[in-house]
Order: sequence, then structure tokens, then C-alpha cells
Amino acid sequence: MTTVEYATARRFEVNAVVISHTRIVNNEYLLVLHAPQIAEAAQPGQFLEVLTGDNYSPLLRRPFSIFNADSKAGTISIVYLARGSFTSGLARLSAGSQLSTIGPLGCGYRWESSHPIRHILVAGGIGAPPLHFLAQAICGSRNEHPVVVINGARTEELLVGIKEFSDLNLEVRLVTDDGSAGRKGRVVDELHEMLTDELKPAAQVYACGPMAMLKAVAQITRTCRTPCQVSVETAMPCGIGICMGCTIGIAVDGDNVHKRLALACTEGPVFDASAVDWG
Ligand SMILES: Cc1cc2nc3c(=O)[nH]c(=O)nc-3n(C[C@H](O)[C@H](O)[C@H](O)COP(=O)(O)OP(=O)(O)OC[C@H]3O[C@@H](n4cnc5c(N)ncnc54)[C@H](O)[C@@H]3O)c2cc1C
Ligand code: FES
Repeated sequence: MTTVEYATARRFEVNAVVISHTRIVNNEYLLVLHAPQIAEAAQPGQFLEVLTGDNYSPLLRRPFSIFNADSKAGTISIVYLARGSFTSGLARLSAGSQLSTIGPLGCGYRWESSHPIRHILVAGGIGAPPLHFLAQAICGSRNEHPVVVINGARTEELLVGIKEFSDLNLEVRLVTDDGSAGRKGRVVDELHEMLTDELKPAAQVYACGPMAMLKAVAQITRTCRTPCQVSVETAMPCGIGICMGCTIGIAVDGDNVHKRLALACTEGPVFDASAVDWG
């Protein structure tokens, strides 16, 4: 295995061996890779940049959130939906083959388990993977406070990580646009009810999903004065701060009048929702 360790951060470039590759349901796959250095360093909310093939197509790497990291086994995993040409190529990898992988990349979620707060994780569709890693980390820490996952999608078959969240022994609330699983509606409806229930203790919200969902989550948490971190999914051609392809508007020093461009791949992908310029 070739390993390059970058001097500026604990990130590694490896040809990771595929340990297993399972179709979970429909076009949703779980890919487990052997990459001990990445598994050791990975934090919830961080991501990998992977490249399939050994010619110039595809030319650029693609980012995938870390779904799970097992430092003892030396493995990391991603969950992805096979949709376009890149992910269809990924779906053809079999156990034993190698995948060029750089990680762990970016700045992940920050959480505090000592304050009496509820941790509310809001997942929209394929935004679920980094929140699964976060839920695992919070549940595995000394946290004694409730962890609730609001897991939503357009329809039941697009819900990601249903079994894996349930295995963590936390509260999962399913929401689908068409009512095919759980509550009919949007994740933000469920979140709004939870945050306006005055009998419940304060909350910290962590979200990942489509930008429109993140914007709505940011509006609700601002109204309810609840701290919220969002993981944004901009295009990330390099993932290491070189190409400038992932910029996002961020408020300067909490002042929403003055904005600057931040690189989502290195300063994020997780940002305070209140700092993001939602346009
Ligand atoms: C931080 C982060 C984490 C993510 N985590 C996950 C995850 O856990 N699971 C998951 O399924 N997806 C995740 N994604 C999304 C994922 O990287 C892409 O959606 C996925 O690679 C798209 O693959 P595809 O096969 O559908 O399409 P692709 O074959 O990648 O192409 C789709 C279209 O986008 C264009 N395109 C692709 N890359 C670029 C680029 N760099 N610049 C400009 N145009 C481009 C292509 O030309 C094509 O038109 C994440 C994205 C980010 C930013
Ligand atoms: S993805 Fe290249 S600078 Fe961020």
C-alpha cells in the first residue's frame, strides 16, 4: 500500500483495499476500506476524496463523508447512492480491489457532552452518513443526554441509514415527504416542534442534507435561538484547498453585513449555521 502523509495536517493518501462492498437497498451501498491511518485520525463530519480507475476518466476525485471509522480494525466506511457515472463506477469495485483515497479531510462537528442538552441530528437523504458517525461518537462518549435523529427523505426508499441509526439505541424519527415512512412532511416540521416544546431542555442541532433543507434548518434554529452546525455539500474537486472550487459565503466575526469567501473543504464542510450566507 502506498501511503503519503501530508505535513500540514493529519491526512493521508493511500491505495485503500476494499474489505467489503455491500448493496444495502436499491442503489445504496456500504463500502468498507482498509486504511488504518485514516481510521485512527478520522473525526465525525470529515470526509474522504476518492478516485476510481487508472486512466484520466474520471479526472477529478469526489468527496464522500465518513460513515464509520474503526481504529481497532483499521477500517473506514462510506455510504453512497449510485446515481451518475462516478458512483456507478464505484459500485463496480469488488472486495480485494484498491481505491485511491485521501483523508480524513475538512473540519467536522464539534460537540460537548457535559452540558445538559439534547443532541438533535437532522439528516436529509444522503446527508445521513456524517451524522451516523457523529451519533456513534456521541453515544460512545460519556454523554448522558438524549440523542435524537430526525431522518428524512422524499420517500421511504431514499431514507439512508435506517437500520444503522436504530442499532445505536437512540431515538429515531422518520419523516418522508409522501408519508411512505414515519411522519408525512419535512424534517424541519419535526425539528420546529421539538425546539418549541418548552418542557424539553435546550438543544444543539447538527444537520446535513440538501442546501435548501440546511437553509430552512438554519432559519428555524435562529428563530428558536438554538446553536446549529451544518455540513454543506458544495462541489469539491480537490478537497485540500488548492482549486478554489468549493467557496461559500461566511459572515465575518458574526457580522452578517460583512461576508468573505471560505473554502468549504478546509474550513468546513461543517460551519455554524448562523455564519453561512444563505443567499
Ligand atoms: C463534503 C461532501 C460529502 C459528501 N458525502 C457523500 C456521501 O456520503 N454519500 C454520497 O452518496 N454522496 C456524498 N457527496 C456527494 C458526492 O460527492 C457526489 O454527489 C457524487 O460523487 C456524485 O456522483 P455521481 O456519480 O452522481 O455523479 P458524477 O459522475 O460525479 O457527476 C455528476 C455531475 O457533476 C459534474 N461534476 C462532478 N464533479 C464535479 C466537479 N468537481 N466540479 C464540477 N462539476 C462536477 C459531472 O460532470 C456531472 O455532470 C458528498 C459531497 C460533499 C461535498
Ligand atoms: S475543493 Fe479544491 S479548494 Fe476546496
